[in-house]
Amino acid sequence: MINQYIQTNQARFLSELFELLRIPSISADSRHKQDVRKAAEFIQAKLKEAGVDKAEICETAGHPIVYAEKILGSSLPTVLVYGHYDVQPVDPLNLWDAPPFEPVIKDNKIFARGSCDDKGQVYMHIKAFEIMMKQNLLPCNVKFMIEGEEEVGSDNLGTFVKANKEKLKADVILISDTAIISLDQPSITAGLRGLSYMEVEITGPNRDLHSGVYGGAVANPINTLSKIIASLHDENGRITIPGFYDKVAELSATDREAINQAPFNLSEYKKELGIDEVTGEKGFTTIERTGIRPTLDCNGIWGGYTGEGAKTVLPSKASAKISMRLVPNQNHEEITELFTKHILSIAPKTVKVKVTAHHGGAPAVTPTDSKAFKAASKAFEEVWGKTPIPTRDGGSIPIVALFKKELGLDTVLMGFGLDSDAIHSPNEHFGIKNFLLGIETIVAFYRHYAGSK
Ligand code: BES
Ligand code: MN
Ligand code: MN
Repeated sequence: MINQYIQTNQARFLSELFELLRIPSISADSRHKQDVRKAAEFIQAKLKEAGVDKAEICETAGHPIVYAEKILGSSLPTVLVYGHYDVQPVDPLNLWDAPPFEPVIKDNKIFARGSCDDKGQVYMHIKAFEIMMKQNLLPCNVKFMIEGEEEVGSDNLGTFVKANKEKLKADVILISDTAIISLDQPSITAGLRGLSYMEVEITGPNRDLHSGVYGGAVANPINTLSKIIASLHDENGRITIPGFYDKVAELSATDREAINQAPFNLSEYKKELGIDEVTGEKGFTTIERTGIRPTLDCNGIWGGYTGEGAKTVLPSKASAKISMRLVPNQNHEEITELFTKHILSIAPKTVKVKVTAHHGGAPAVTPTDSKAFKAASKAFEEVWGKTPIPTRDGGSIPIVALFKKELGLDTVLMGFGLDSDAIHSPNEHFGIKNFLLGIETIVAFYRHYAGSK
């Protein structure tokens, strides 16, 4: 019955999603402020059409939050669905095969910015809800909280959650904003890394200098910054910031073994990325390096002359953006402080250094023995014909830890993307099969979850 509804309505589901994907809701870019709002209004309208009691646009100091609910009765459990309708910037634009906000289908995949992260996955929830409403299958209360600032750190969502604890009262949080291992092997994310995002600015001389006249006598900020960045890892791939690993939860041998049971093919991984070798912390596998170990990466670096041809210049300034992915029980505020202190302490006297913190977030581990996790597991079994494997993902959804802290609620991370979907990259895409099976899995989740209460 559900299957048939999905089949009959598939074309409409996709054309509605395409409409959402055409809205360039880039939260980081103030020029798109109105587009971000347009996406919020679209979500609100579609939730209303699908049959919620009410759907509202909640203003924040930044982009709005869409809140909606369908309450059937106070004796029934309540699922709070969280997702985000904002997307990452699209550059480098020239590497897209088709314009990022003009969705196209190729090889049974939807290509567009946000197709997987997270508009496509949010839309699965709205359509799953529509199906349950149309077929009288909704077995519990549902609340939706879809925000527009996830990709810029969810700053105002924290305030919203703290101020609306009664409104957000629920039994479990359900999020589809992560990935499965593959179409042949479903998985449920049971942990996410945290984040500390920093910026370092090095200033040398008070103006750009002729690199011949002054070179060799005055510190070059780019050289200095490169040296600082290079020194942040040792020869074993470990991060050299004092105290960085102090609180890292080391997994037991059994837990590590379990994590490495997940299917993973190193040569396919390398081939897909066009690399000859992987790298990382010595003594850990690739799965562990991206799942249970903290990391430090330079995300952007600039300074000096980068235009056409050559210009002989010793620049006055150089900057870099550096992110650290964190694991339990690291505290992102503490790590931000350790990083700042360390950079200031190793910078030579030849330059001035400014360290600023961007957003951060706490790591999260979700229980795998809860009713909700078991319901998600059963839903996958039913729809995908295979028991899903719990995984630890490398990305971050900072709000998960906050939900636990502020609302006391556990989250089920039932995502349907693939690591190869190129989220945040050119040619982001989302499999139509993932989209349709996802809708079915969500409907099955509700049934199993309500049934287990
Ligand atoms: N959906 C991602 C997070 C993600 C992706 C988790 C894949 C697991 C697997 C989310 O939209 C995201 O990109 N988060 C940011 C953090 C945020 C604070 C900017 C991230 O991980 O960089
Ligand atoms: Mn996301
Ligand atoms: Mn993202």
